[in-house]
Amino acid sequence: MTDKSANRMWGGRFKALPAEIMEEINASIGFDKRLAPQDIRASKAHASMLAAQGIITKADAREILKGLEQVLAEIESGKMDYTRALEDVHMNVEARVKDLIGTPAGRLHTARSRNDQVATDFRLYVRETIDAFDTALAGLQFVLARKAEAHAATVMPGFTHLQPAQPVTFGHHMLAYVEMLGRDRGRFADASRRLNECPLGAAALAGTSFPIDRHMTADALDFDKPSANSLDAVSDRDFVLETLAAAAITAMHLSRLAEEIVLWATHQFGFIRLSDKFTTGSSIMPQKRNPDAAELTRAKVGRVAGAFQSLLIVMKGLPLAYSKDMQEDKEVAFDALDSLALAIAAMAGMVDDMEPVPDAMRAAADQGYATATDLADWLVRALKLPFREAHHVTGRIVAEAESQSLPLEKLSLKAMQAVERRITNDVFSVLSPEKSVSSRKSYGGTAPQNVRKMARSWLKRLEKGLARG
Ligand code: ARG
Repeated sequence: MTDKSANRMWGGRFKALPAEIMEEINASIGFDKRLAPQDIRASKAHASMLAAQGIITKADAREILKGLEQVLAEIESGKMDYTRALEDVHMNVEARVKDLIGTPAGRLHTARSRNDQVATDFRLYVRETIDAFDTALAGLQFVLARKAEAHAATVMPGFTHLQPAQPVTFGHHMLAYVEMLGRDRGRFADASRRLNECPLGAAALAGTSFPIDRHMTADALDFDKPSANSLDAVSDRDFVLETLAAAAITAMHLSRLAEEIVLWATHQFGFIRLSDKFTTGSSIMPQKRNPDAAELTRAKVGRVAGAFQSLLIVMKGLPLAYSKDMQEDKEVAFDALDSLALAIAAMAGMVDDMEPVPDAMRAAADQGYATATDLADWLVRALKLPFREAHHVTGRIVAEAESQSLPLEKLSLKAMQAVERRITNDVFSVLSPEKSVSSRKSYGGTAPQNVRKMARSWLKRLEKGLARG
């Protein structure tokens, strides 16, 4: 290979290339423009503080605030022109204020840096996102709890290892997800509490020599307090990591629900029916009704957990304070948080839409000897057998029923007595799935009366919260 061919490969662009590529790798405006409302809000707080502290004049501050408001209006009406040459949202907004008001705009950047700016903007954004998640998750809990109340006594097989284990109620199953989502909301609330410190005024990394009032800006932006260490303030992304971690766990929960919806909607299970609203047809197989929304929700956890991994690795080993690496926090986080929002909405729609098929669940509950534990418990209670022995006796009775292709409740007393002669007719009082579930009244158990009570208490709490939200 000659030098000439190498030249040809790089073409005539060789000289322009580094600058262009530099701009391309460096600019964040393509994705951080969505932080513009937060950026403007934080700039307004900063300008007001600068004026209150006599660092800039009140007249300049007034101009700056007017300019910022106008830029916000332009953004909201889609009129703002962003330019990549100005790198990011912070520079774009400031430059536009300068176009509008001239010289005073230059005073806005006193006693701050893009490092504390971006940290502040992103915290505001994440805090708002968490609030929106909380409302959306409460909404999903609400539709689940409503299904739970309606199906508090609808018997279905409960599974372990996806093998029929013991009968439960569909309502109980729904409430399991309500509990999970409750913990998810707790994790988000916890992350939100911890993120609520204001980095603004940490400036580039060391603080500032201007007599700023960081408490004032923190208050104006509804933060609990200013962050205590300027180096930490500009280099911390824990708040994104924690939010993504909580998001990943939430997405994992949604993927489990999605998977169950996929399973239940199969012909083989047939536990639920889905309407056209949340399914698609096949272009070749006319009979198909595919649960795409559930499948996509099941898949989203990959992106969300991936975003957490991605940012964790970006942050690992970064020396204090700010490094440009940290600009890589936003795209993955936006993508993950958008994906989660969509998944929560899709799940709420699907749960609301799905129509349980009690007969199919009941028939399945009869298969697989799901009341074998009830038989063993009866042997313990009525015949005082030690549980281990009762387990053994039950195993032999199940084997007999299996060889006769009968459910336990249909096996004759004689056949049972052939295994354990002291068994009486009373045993049949525990062998139906209905008897089984209604006997499980222990706290947190699947008895319909428990489920109904729990569903109602959730609904009451959620109604209050949703009304407040
Ligand atoms: N666009 C940057 C980011 O997202 C803003 C901070 C830039 N700071 C700097 N020192 N270049 O991280």
